[in-house]
Amino acid sequence: MTKVGIEKMAFFTSGYYIGMDELAKSRQEDPNKYKIGIGQMQQSVIPASQDVVTLAANASDRILTAADKEKITMVVFGTETGVDNSKAASMYLQELLGLRKEARAFEVKQACYGATAGVQMAIDYLTLHPDEKVLVIGADIARYGLQTAGEVTQGGGAVSMLLSTNPKIVEFEGKSSFHSENIMDFWRPLYKKEAVVDGHYSTNVYIDFFSKTFDDFQTKYSMTVNDFKAFAFHLPYTKMGLKALKTILPESNNVDGLLSEFEASKKYSAEVGNLYTGSLYLSLMSLIANSKTLQVGDRIGLFSYGSGAQGEFFSAKVIADDEARTVIKNQVDELLAKRDSLTTPEYENMYTESLTADSNDHQNDSLPDTAKFTFGGVKNDKRLYKRFGEIIE
Ligand code: CAA
Repeated sequence: MTKVGIEKMAFFTSGYYIGMDELAKSRQEDPNKYKIGIGQMQQSVIPASQDVVTLAANASDRILTAADKEKITMVVFGTETGVDNSKAASMYLQELLGLRKEARAFEVKQACYGATAGVQMAIDYLTLHPDEKVLVIGADIARYGLQTAGEVTQGGGAVSMLLSTNPKIVEFEGKSSFHSENIMDFWRPLYKKEAVVDGHYSTNVYIDFFSKTFDDFQTKYSMTVNDFKAFAFHLPYTKMGLKALKTILPESNNVDGLLSEFEASKKYSAEVGNLYTGSLYLSLMSLIANSKTLQVGDRIGLFSYGSGAQGEFFSAKVIADDEARTVIKNQVDELLAKRDSLTTPEYENMYTESLTADSNDHQNDSLPDTAKFTFGGVKNDKRLYKRFGEIIE
């Protein structure tokens, strides 16, 4: 079988976050509920000057060379925070990044599962077209609303992945189990910017889908939990992944090892919050960057979950050597360390402003944003994007 996997990956989020001590104080909650009960320490706050297109462009810009761009013939943009009801975010991205036009470029939506659909499509595509490369994006802004139970699980950002037959981070094994069902646990009607969620039900469905897909995977491929060195989960909040992991620990003969790998995999999500479709892949980056024990050749299990609902469990082998892992670690650690913390009123203003950022024609320059790509506003119902602060005509 052709070797297919992730050659490069990058993460981008905004330059602002709110700490969970600050949010808990403002919501009259015990900070330990947020930090231990939910498992979040900080939450990225996405200003009106960023949308999923710019988040994805800023992430991708960190890794793509001119030679990569020449080889990319498929661009799959996984998001549930799309910027248009018709046009795919990948079209804007293609232009911002200067990608070639002889490419399939489209958007995939299934809540937090979109990027996994892209990854699986890329595996099939690259098996047939081994000389090409595929860009897969998972980018979202998770919004539940101010003073809601889901508020503590907000966040946002983008993970950009270059898949090819020359993987340098992980190689996929082509083994996968999936399950889908029409379920109302979390959804977002066309007229809303914030999710509608049946929170406790959604956590039960997540566990149920994990059990179904992992059981099926074990039967299909004659494997057990002991065939995996680590697991990376979709992390709507980090305690959710821990709850799923705990369901399989009784069968493990390496409980401490799996728990310590989970600590490594949740580090970045605890500081960023939910990325929806990018979340599983941020967990993967966090695991690769922060694990002290993962070795080249170790098998990882990945669980993707998109409410509504689609679950998929699949496996990969680690390829990243120490140098590749340090590159990822430095990249994400530096980005997170540069962010500014917000007070609750500052966060609330930024959040509220972003809700209406694209509803009418306007110039979007209320806030300085030093990212290379920013959202410049809307003119004649057309979105405007900026590169280094200059509108791209
Ligand atoms: N110290 C330590 N722990 C505390 C505490 C304290 N002082 N107070 C409460 N806790 C613990 C609780 O015991 C509970 O732990 P367990 O879950 O282990 O029992 C935890 O903190 C949360 O407490 P509650 O259940 O009372 O919290 P809540 O009712 O306010 O809501 C939530 C929690 C349902 C996750 C809510 O934040 C929510 O709706 N979030 C959005 C939905 C979501 O993320 N669902 C996940 C699955 S769906 C999915 O994965 C797709 C997606 O991305 C959305």
